[in-house]
Amino acid sequence: MDCHTPLILPSLLASDFANIASEVKRAEEAGAKWLHLDVMDGNFVDNISFGPAMIEAVRKHTSMFLDVHLMIHRADHYLERFIKAGAGNISLHVEAQYDTSVEATLQRIKDAGLSAGLVLNPATPFAAAEPYLHLIDLLLVMTVVPGFGGQPFMEKETMPKLDAARAYREQHGLKYHLQVDGGIYTNTAPIAKKHGANLFVCGTSAFGPKDMKAAMTELAASVA
Ligand code: DX5
Ligand code: ZN
Repeated sequence: MDCHTPLILPSLLASDFANIASEVKRAEEAGAKWLHLDVMDGNFVDNISFGPAMIEAVRKHTSMFLDVHLMIHRADHYLERFIKAGAGNISLHVEAQYDTSVEATLQRIKDAGLSAGLVLNPATPFAAAEPYLHLIDLLLVMTVVPGFGGQPFMEKETMPKLDAARAYREQHGLKYHLQVDGGIYTNTAPIAKKHGANLFVCGTSAFGPKDMKAAMTELAASVA
């Protein structure tokens, strides 16, 4: 899949945690190809979600590509566990602490044969990602401050960063996907698309409605 193909990724954070297996099935039956998994350590962000054991459990119930968004410090320390658990893509925050470095950790993800992603918080400038762009498959521009679902889309703070990331990609002949995460609905997804995004993470807007298939179809139509 190239970096111009739009895709809607349901975020498991917004699912019913007491019924994960059936929620994963619901996402798959609604047409999802990639599932987004938010790992939070209660330290890098002010919330605690789940870890590698959850990814491993989900892996057994689906053939969807698992897109793991690590909102944790010391991702390099925990990396092997996420690789073993069955992640397809692993995304790292540039703002987090590492025992080694962002670059070495991205390289380990690539060496394991996985897709590697880098994430920028709303307050982090695009320049912070520049040293790593030749190494990555995906750049996630957070459109909310990470930690919780259901927050409003921060258009003014984040869309110029997508513009810069797209321009840089063209100038340097790179191929990374541009992903947005937070506050993505049928009214905000087209704005992000206009600025170059092709991967749209949808928590509340995908898992919230009873009819997830209808919700996913509407979200996909909004960026088609
Ligand atoms: C936010 C997470 C998101 C979250 C998005 O910290 O990274 O993936 O699930 O939720 P919504 O779509 O409800 O804003
Ligand atoms: Zn996320």
